[in-house]
Amino acid sequence: MLVRPAQAADAEPIREIYNLEVVESTVTFDLVPRSHDQQREWLAAHSGAHPAIVAVDDGEVVGFGSLSPYKDRPAYSTTVEDSVYVRRDRRTRGVGRLLLGELLTLATTHGFHSVIARIVGDHEASIALHRSCGFELVGTEREVGRKFGRWLDVVELQRLL
Ligand SMILES: CC(C)(COP(=O)(O)OP(=O)(O)OC[C@H]1O[C@@H](n2cnc3c(N)ncnc32)[C@H](O)[C@@H]1OP(=O)(O)O)[C@@H](O)C(=O)NCCC(=O)NCCS
Repeated sequence: MLVRPAQAADAEPIREIYNLEVVESTVTFDLVPRSHDQQREWLAAHSGAHPAIVAVDDGEVVGFGSLSPYKDRPAYSTTVEDSVYVRRDRRTRGVGRLLLGELLTLATTHGFHSVIARIVGDHEASIALHRSCGFELVGTEREVGRKFGRWLDVVELQRLL
């Protein structure tokens, strides 16, 4: 298993992994699948201190992760928000942990002070992944999202670097 910066050629496998969650789950609050052009724009926006990375096994992208700005206002610029997605047939084998570990290393290298994860309330796998990488619960935003006719809570976890 190799973890490396994402490249333009990774757009399609990333899009496949992501869009399945858009249409079938509440782990992302996007409601409409990404087009190829939107995925390429997303990749172009994730470089430098806000990178996208992929986990590659035997030449196949099996997961990806990213760091994004937490909020626009300048005083938040020392905080980033992470995101990790693992292909469904490769879960619970350490890929998520590998990706999140690398994102934490990159966030430290780029001098960030704080990493935030915002996770749909009942998502035990993502909460467990973040806890296992040293994140602690900050709090719960109740019923801030709505998808598939359900109100959705968001739990916020944080790790100070
Ligand atoms: C969340 C996700 C990235 C975890 O990836 P993964 O490769 O399966 O996770 P790992 O195998 O590295 O496991 C990491 C930890 O989480 C725990 N975990 C993983 N899946 C779990 C589950 N379904 N239930 C409970 N704990 C789980 C593991 O036991 C492990 O804990 P440990 O380090 O204490 O042993 C994966 O489930 C996923 O892609 N989900 C859909 C996308 C998503 O929700 N992303 C997060 C958006 S906020």
